[in-house]
Amino acid sequence: MINQFLWVIFPYVCMVVFVVGHIFRYRYDQFGWTAKSSEFIEKKQLMIGSLLFHLGIIPVFIGHVSGLGIPKSWTQAVGISDHMYHLGAVWGGVFFGVVTFAGMFILTFRRFSIKTVRKLSSTSDLIVNSLLLFIIFIGVYAALVTNNVVVGFDYRDSISVWFRSLFTLQPDAQLMVGVPLSFQLHVLSGFLIFAIWPFTRLVHAWSVPVNYVGRSYILYRRHERPKRKAN
Ligand code: HEM
Repeated sequence: MINQFLWVIFPYVCMVVFVVGHIFRYRYDQFGWTAKSSEFIEKKQLMIGSLLFHLGIIPVFIGHVSGLGIPKSWTQAVGISDHMYHLGAVWGGVFFGVVTFAGMFILTFRRFSIKTVRKLSSTSDLIVNSLLLFIIFIGVYAALVTNNVVVGFDYRDSISVWFRSLFTLQPDAQLMVGVPLSFQLHVLSGFLIFAIWPFTRLVHAWSVPVNYVGRSYILYRRHERPKRKAN
């Protein structure tokens, strides 16, 4: 029963909340659809953290799409041996995973440690940062440590097959039962972030600001009160 909940009901609920939540937010809160930049409070850490996070997360995302979406038999059919795939996935994945983690660490540290940034943050901002940091940490841990400690475990024989089974509407919870804990925690927290996504600042990801390149800068100006003239 618990396995059915964790590996069937929970992921489906997260996916439904992700889709319906976005429709709801778009219809009722378009003015709140923003990344809520805090750049005007602190620039340097934001720039480094955000750059590292975004440079890392894009290859990590591509790695997830191929690792979870492409069956092992397909990569074998085009001549990529499991050993070769594993080497590329683990070392490439870990490299970009560490870059993503470094970026997220700086962003989270900045959000909690700089008083003015923290004051400007909502509870949802703090939860999003902490949860992302956890997901990335446990993902890198699983890829680097668990993969090397648990001999014979290959996520493409279990997690990837289970993941695809969700989308073919034939979910097989049994595939996740023997998976090491670090991977299980990573996958559950990974789904959780999708469920809260529509209600947080993460929605900015769907509004890639292509027009930033050509548009004028936003200027933040101090509002000076006009000085009273002495009588
Ligand atoms: C939605 C469900 C998710 C599943 C099923 C999943 C699955 C996986 C798997 C199987 C690995 C290990 C890859 C390997 O051993 O080479 C991994 C690693 C990783 N995941 Fe996820 N993940 C999910 C969500 C996320 C999310 C939302 C993030 C980031 C916000 C994330 C970030 C990472 C990172 C940084 C790594 C380590 C580097 C890498 O191997 O790419 N994952 N994930």
